[in-house]
Amino acid sequence: MPNGELEISIRDLTKRFGDRLILDRINLTIQSGQTVALIGPSGGGKSTLLRCLNGLTQFDDGEIRVGAHTLRPDRRANGGGAVVHQLRRLFGMVFQDFQLFPHLSVLANVIEAPRLVLGLDHDAAVERARKLLKRVGLAEHENAWPQQLSGGQKQRVAIARALAMEPRGLLCDEITSALDPELKNEVLAVLEDLKREGMTLLMVTHEIGFARRAADRVLLLADGKIIEDGLPAEVLDQPKTPRARAFLRSVLG
Ligand SMILES: Nc1ncnc2c1ncn2[C@@H]1O[C@H](COP(=O)(O)OP(=O)(O)OP(=O)(O)O)[C@@H](O)[C@H]1O
Ligand SMILES: [Mg+2]
Repeated sequence: MPNGELEISIRDLTKRFGDRLILDRINLTIQSGQTVALIGPSGGGKSTLLRCLNGLTQFDDGEIRVGAHTLRPDRRANGGGAVVHQLRRLFGMVFQDFQLFPHLSVLANVIEAPRLVLGLDHDAAVERARKLLKRVGLAEHENAWPQQLSGGQKQRVAIARALAMEPRGLLCDEITSALDPELKNEVLAVLEDLKREGMTLLMVTHEIGFARRAADRVLLLADGKIIEDGLPAEVLDQPKTPRARAFLRSVLG
């Protein structure tokens, strides 16, 4: 599939929890290969937006298009979950709290989905997993249990596990927030590597330094709306809206 077909296109995405409007007609296009940092105040809807993109949260109105696949609020219109399945194949998701399988070794965590979902045979899945563990610097740890790893190591296993499905992009929800500064850098270095290889990255992050250095584009989501969208230097240094200025003052100090 040519890269251009994998644009993520979000139209009028609306999400409510009860009476509360969480995402207010979001319109957004993310090009294939872009690294996008999504920032904004707590409760602004960042995680909800990512979860909608991965079919983990249903939305109320609008549509999400990825390549030829269109996700709409009515699941029946989505071919009974087939679209969600496709979106998850195309975009892996990595979470703040890793969500590794605690009862499986590092290697077993990484081979699980390729075996069960892609139907890879054991040897092929192991070969793929070993390459990925090497790439995230964990070749020596394939037999470890998740609880024996540091947070940074766990997060790198989670990234390897997502990559084992050979996705076209990753949706990352504050994946360094639980880590000490040194461990953060290990994980951010892996992401910079993926960016260089052309992976599409949509990252909810509080790492303003990383956003400035590595992102092609910064989005600021507040009160359910994208209130800033531009190059890192534009959004971070010259925000147009008072709301964005207030937020950036609070995080940049
Ligand atoms: N399952 C849910 N049921 C009800 N309300 C929810 C649910 N999930 C999220 N919310 C509400 O939706 C709003 C947006 O939440 P969301 O987690 O998307 O924010 P966020 O921008 O990711 O915040 P943070 O930076 O703190 O992670 C919040 O007010 C939250 O309380
Ligand atoms: Mg969140």
